[in-house]
Amino acid sequence: MKRIGVLTSGGDSPGMNAAIRAVVRTGLFYGLEVYGIGHGYAGLIEGEIREMDRSSVSDIMQRGGTMLYTARCEEFQTEKGQQQAVMMLENFKIEGLVVIGGDGSMKGARALAQKGVCTIGLPGTIDNDLAYTDYTIGFDTAVNTALSAISNLRDTSSSHGRVTIIEVMGRHCGDIALYAGIGGGAEIVIVPEDPFDPLDVCRQIVEGRNKGKRHCIILLAEGAPVTSQELSEFIRKHTAMDSRVTVLGHVQRGGSPTSFDRMIASRMGAYGVKILMEGKSSRAVGIRGNEIVDYDIFEALSMERKANEELIELSRILSI
Ligand code: ADP
Ligand code: F6P
Repeated sequence: MKRIGVLTSGGDSPGMNAAIRAVVRTGLFYGLEVYGIGHGYAGLIEGEIREMDRSSVSDIMQRGGTMLYTARCEEFQTEKGQQQAVMMLENFKIEGLVVIGGDGSMKGARALAQKGVCTIGLPGTIDNDLAYTDYTIGFDTAVNTALSAISNLRDTSSSHGRVTIIEVMGRHCGDIALYAGIGGGAEIVIVPEDPFDPLDVCRQIVEGRNKGKRHCIILLAEGAPVTSQELSEFIRKHTAMDSRVTVLGHVQRGGSPTSFDRMIASRMGAYGVKILMEGKSSRAVGIRGNEIVDYDIFEALSMERKANEELIELSRILSI
């Protein structure tokens, strides 16, 4: 293998730049030519492809976002779009491709692998929603962003004696809510993986107030079966307490990556290039325990995410 490509796709996540840097520098270290593809699969279809050198990835490690830019690309979901992408890789003589992105981007990588392209996927998403890996690149930073918001909101929640609902991202996965909820000492965490009863939530709020708690922080994952506004109105009606909603939104997607995200991104990026050079293809790179691992991408994407019962229970125990 002489020439490889790298792209970022789907929702950006802090640490993607560290992963790009690792792919580029590892490739160069081993004598490969490395090409950066701009705007994910959209840029691949359009041939937005340029050669990278060591200085193209200087000074990016500490930045959020992705220096290669990203996109959600409907055209790539069609047969024609995928054929165009394969043709473009052939035109540029790119023999191996590293895709950094979330669940959807991994499915795109799988589609390219099915068409015979040597493809490796790295998990880049704040959602932590890929079953085959303990952590995805960007998740830890998003949790830390949520933690700092919790800390600010707790102040005002206590001053006013209000219920504060903080809605966090995660698509169908509750991990940002769960980790930030435990780390931020939330009273209640509501995630899609765990059924909940709004009346039970109201009972806990009232019990907390009766115990003398001044604040009540509720972490609500965006994938939960109730919206933050609906829950807020329900709480006002059933507890006679005032309630406010903060939707953290895209603030969770940016910012300088934590050391953890920089480390896993660097390790996964380097690992991805090494396995490409070994001739492996159609692999999804992840982390299990503290070890970087790779799975067949079909197998990885068919694994089912299970609710993290241990953490769900821990958040209940610690919030008494
Ligand atoms: P993320 O990678 O963050 O989960 P998306 O779900 O939007 O973000 O996926 C990113 C892109 O990956 C999509 O815009 C599309 O181009 C491609 N993609 C998603 N699902 C598939 C699929 N089933 N087959 C091929 N490509 C896909
Ligand atoms: O997948 C990352 C994510 O931030 C999800 O948590 C969220 O549901 C979605 O992307 C938001 O997408 P967009 O940036 O297109 O609004």
